[in-house]
Amino acid sequence: MGAATARELARRGFHVLAGVRRDHDADTIRAAGVEPVILDITRSEQVEALAARIADDPRALHALVNNAGVQVNAPVETLPPAEWRRVFEVNLFGHIAVTQALLPALLRARGRVINISSIGGKYAMATYGAYAGAKFALEAVSDSLRREVAPLGVQVVVVEPGGVRTEIAARGIATANDLATRMTPEQHERYGDLVRANNSLMATGTASGLTADAAARVVVKAVTARRPRTRYTAGRDAALIMRLGPFLSDRTLDRVLAANLRRHHPKAAGASSPHFADTP
Ligand SMILES: NC(=O)c1ccc[n+]([C@@H]2O[C@H](COP(=O)([O-])OP(=O)(O)OC[C@H]3O[C@@H](n4cnc5c(N)ncnc54)[C@H](OP(=O)(O)O)[C@@H]3O)[C@@H](O)[C@H]2O)c1
Repeated sequence: MGAATARELARRGFHVLAGVRRDHDADTIRAAGVEPVILDITRSEQVEALAARIADDPRALHALVNNAGVQVNAPVETLPPAEWRRVFEVNLFGHIAVTQALLPALLRARGRVINISSIGGKYAMATYGAYAGAKFALEAVSDSLRREVAPLGVQVVVVEPGGVRTEIAARGIATANDLATRMTPEQHERYGDLVRANNSLMATGTASGLTADAAARVVVKAVTARRPRTRYTAGRDAALIMRLGPFLSDRTLDRVLAANLRRHHPKAAGASSPHFADTP
């Protein structure tokens, strides 16, 4: 989604600094209007270098798009503490660090911050505790930041995609399978089917989701709209869940989601925890 967003913004005439972690990816994305910048958002020296690069540039910083994300699919009981921290480092603290570093430039330019959240930022499925936890927090931080900087002329916008055909599902499934090998036999007994069902759900949910280009167009709308909304969903699945969810009780939602999950693994039917089909 990040690459598609960078290309679409460049096509519309923006000069895009595109964060990548490897030289190889820099070479792939470099194009007219797309300047790669080596950036691991969890590494403070790289975040500082980005801020310095922007401070040296006479052009105004129109927008920061916080897009990086990692997904894990593991029960709360079994996800090792280091993995909890890794997910929060990327999906929350990294974005906060970049936002803090670039806010002076954004305030000067009366620019905007676009935070890429998820349906998981509003509804937490079983095995998505870490991912959804970090996305819920990103939603909350976005609300606070919006209320802090709106009077100073900076807009803060959240984009909430449903399923999008990117690498996130394959990567998330690989991580889930790796984590599953570290479960005890008892944990396997308790959660093995649940993890398998959710892997299947994620694979089909993203495969039937938006293309990265279509999701990127929603992000670009958040970047360019004269009066942006505070939140945009991306995809029909996201729009539907965000509209219906508030009318359903927790228990009703549990039942709906468990029924949906049963289609992916009959033995997981006993799982009474919430599951959405189409989003990591
Ligand atoms: N795809 C979906 O169905 C979906 C649904 C809802 C929300 N989202 C959200 O959309 C955003 C984009 O995800 P995607 O679907 O495009 O996933 P993706 O294809 O897996 O891309 C994720 C990107 O994040 C980058 N990243 C990971 N850790 C990073 C770090 N420490 N520093 C800098 N970059 C880092 C990755 O870089 P490397 O290539 O170097 O690893 C990769 O470019 C994420 O925030 C995700 O949570 C996606």
